[in-house]
Amino acid sequence: MTATLLEKPRPSYELVSRHDGRAPRYTSYPTAVQFTPTVDARTYKGWLNALPAGEPVSLYAHIPFCARLCWYCGCNTRAVNRHDPVEAYVGKLVEEIRLVSRELPGPIPASAIHLGGGTPNMLAPRDMDRLFGALGRAFALTPDAELAAELDPPLLTREWVAAAAGHGLKRASLGVQNLAPEVQAAVDRRESIAEVARCMDWLREAGVASINLDLMYGLPHQTTGNTLATIEAIIPLRPERIALFGYAHVPWMKAHQKLIDEAALPGAPARLDQSEAAAERLIEVGYVRIGLDHFALPGDELSVALAERRLRRNFQGYTTDAARTLIGFGASAIGSFPQGYVQNLTKELDWRDAVECGELPIARGVTLTADDRFRGEIIERLMCDLAVDLAAVCKTHERDPAELNAEIASLAAFEQDGLLHRDGPRLSVTEPGRLVVRAIAAAFDAYFKPEEGRHSRTL
Ligand SMILES: C[S@@+](CC[C@H](N)C(=O)[O-])C[C@H]1O[C@@H](n2cnc3c(N)ncnc32)[C@H](O)[C@@H]1O
Ligand code: SF4
Repeated sequence: MTATLLEKPRPSYELVSRHDGRAPRYTSYPTAVQFTPTVDARTYKGWLNALPAGEPVSLYAHIPFCARLCWYCGCNTRAVNRHDPVEAYVGKLVEEIRLVSRELPGPIPASAIHLGGGTPNMLAPRDMDRLFGALGRAFALTPDAELAAELDPPLLTREWVAAAAGHGLKRASLGVQNLAPEVQAAVDRRESIAEVARCMDWLREAGVASINLDLMYGLPHQTTGNTLATIEAIIPLRPERIALFGYAHVPWMKAHQKLIDEAALPGAPARLDQSEAAAERLIEVGYVRIGLDHFALPGDELSVALAERRLRRNFQGYTTDAARTLIGFGASAIGSFPQGYVQNLTKELDWRDAVECGELPIARGVTLTADDRFRGEIIERLMCDLAVDLAAVCKTHERDPAELNAEIASLAAFEQDGLLHRDGPRLSVTEPGRLVVRAIAAAFDAYFKPEEGRHSRTL
């Protein structure tokens, strides 16, 4: 580590851990824990029927297949070594899109499509043609509709990039995690910086304007040294965005994580050191730190949206997507509507059976109350801007600011420790407080019960 880095003030582990409360990551409010089967296919039909004609929606398709199963992975996916299951799945996606389109009140414009996973580059170009053909029949894709996709570098080909570019690929996210051979061996995921660089060249040649690289900290045998070495290797590639995720070790939910040697996992102080050393170096070379775990070049849309206070948070993380409606397709996909959230059946076979029976494959969801919308806006502003003007949010939602007195009082310890600054109704999370912003946001969550401990730790 350089002298300049050591001189920078860094929140102490002791301070952060005192306020670390296993709070949700707030990719929605209420969070998925509050989803119940009371929101079902009938509810979903009603929400689809009520979509305002002419208002663009965003679309998400989940591709739960990978060429390999990385031992740390927390995504809903499985490894396959033949193409038939992927092709069969795309056939069901096409059917699901048709089922949804029957419920639409007329031609609905769609301005953004996100392919998530798993590994969307498991789709063959002919699969993408079928998928986009179905989306094009169901929705009025706007001429400038943007496609974004999550990609696994060693599997990516120039042909795939060309095929996706033909469908409007404008943003891509590549998994990198950590480049040290000992870390890669401990999670059974191998890839080189040369592969990542080659993918970025193909994507940029094809006109992809914003490339994100996913990095992780807290993996087995990960150290601050090999985290910084990974950062140094990617800096010359100048990715527009970088996500830095803390490894969430939940072997009771993801059985393959049991393959990870727990004795090799860095402890909480080491995780903090890895994440903050990486952040300091990225800021030093010009990246803007965004929210919980993102970094972007100053000219990237994410940084611009942050500066203009129009950054949003949804199931894909931080986004500039302003659409009020997100329609999800595929096993486990989540949709977001003005009325609430809706989630598809998580298991691929259950999802497939429902689609085959001609049913919308809904498992659960939540209908938003006026209070959910009010609290959801406070939480989203805190997670995105690290600041919120409570008086302004109260005014929008016609609420009396005095109703939040108990929540504000519960934040006194954060204020005393310099993690939060309060100026009348305006709350600003300080730079050290960024690490506990989830716990600060949780003060406004009417459902959160800290003692249940269902969420991963901040560190
Ligand atoms: C859909 S994958 C990315 C695309 C592609 N499948 C790949 O791995 O290159 C999503 C990302 O989630 C992150 N991730 C997966 N499991 C995680 C876990 N248990 N804890 C934290 N982040 C995780 C990784 O950074 C990974 O790149
Ligand atoms: S990290 Fe990516 S490639 Fe690895 S199992 Fe998860 S989704 Fe698949």
